[in-house]
Amino acid sequence: MDNNFDTIHEFEQALSKFTGAPYVIMTDCCTHAIELCLRYDQITQCSFTAYTYLSIPMTMHKLGIDYRLLDTPNWIGEYAFENTRIWDSARLLRQDMYRPGQMQCLSFGYSKPLEIGRGGAILLDDSTAYNKMIKQRYDGRDLTISPWQTQKTFEIGADFAELFMEVVVSMLRYPENEKFPCIVTWIFLNFQVTIPAI
Ligand SMILES: Cc1ncc(COP(=O)(O)O)c(C=O)c1O
Repeated sequence: MDNNFDTIHEFEQALSKFTGAPYVIMTDCCTHAIELCLRYDQITQCSFTAYTYLSIPMTMHKLGIDYRLLDTPNWIGEYAFENTRIWDSARLLRQDMYRPGQMQCLSFGYSKPLEIGRGGAILLDDSTAYNKMIKQRYDGRDLTISPWQTQKTFEIGADFAELFMEVVVSMLRYPENEKFPCIVTWIFLNFQVTIPAI
């Protein structure tokens, strides 16, 4: 496997161990993690708090989802898309935070508990969903196959997301990243994540 993708895989394993989620899919941001889940579950209707980030209702528009905004300002760390198993957990990172049966979407962007600079992840326990979305997050590619040109089949429709995984890899990989010199080591050794107030 390519070294860059080893880094992603290592990070996913660290997150899996930390959060208790059997499967973890790293993405370029939380918004795209949520988009992958909404598409996978073919959500057509949902309700969620109005007190969220702009990209969330914009994604609903993009996907043609009929949504209702709720006057619920007091969520802490994460909120559910009601009537779905999908969560916007952009502002939460806590040991054993995984909720069985659910798909929780994390962010590693600016002001988030683990601020890499950019990045997101899906926590889940559905192996079928995992096997599909793990390829969808990066142009249908199976990152265990290198070089990618030797991959035999690419599923149609797996290339919808313009995911900038290279950016995420570079942020994870380089020790010069001032905030977290080695993110994987940091997760394993410290397990101490502060949750900023929203
Ligand atoms: C509650 C919430 N959800 C989603 C997002 C989007 O996260 P990302 O920038 O990783 O797509 C943000 C970003 O600030 C957020 O605050």
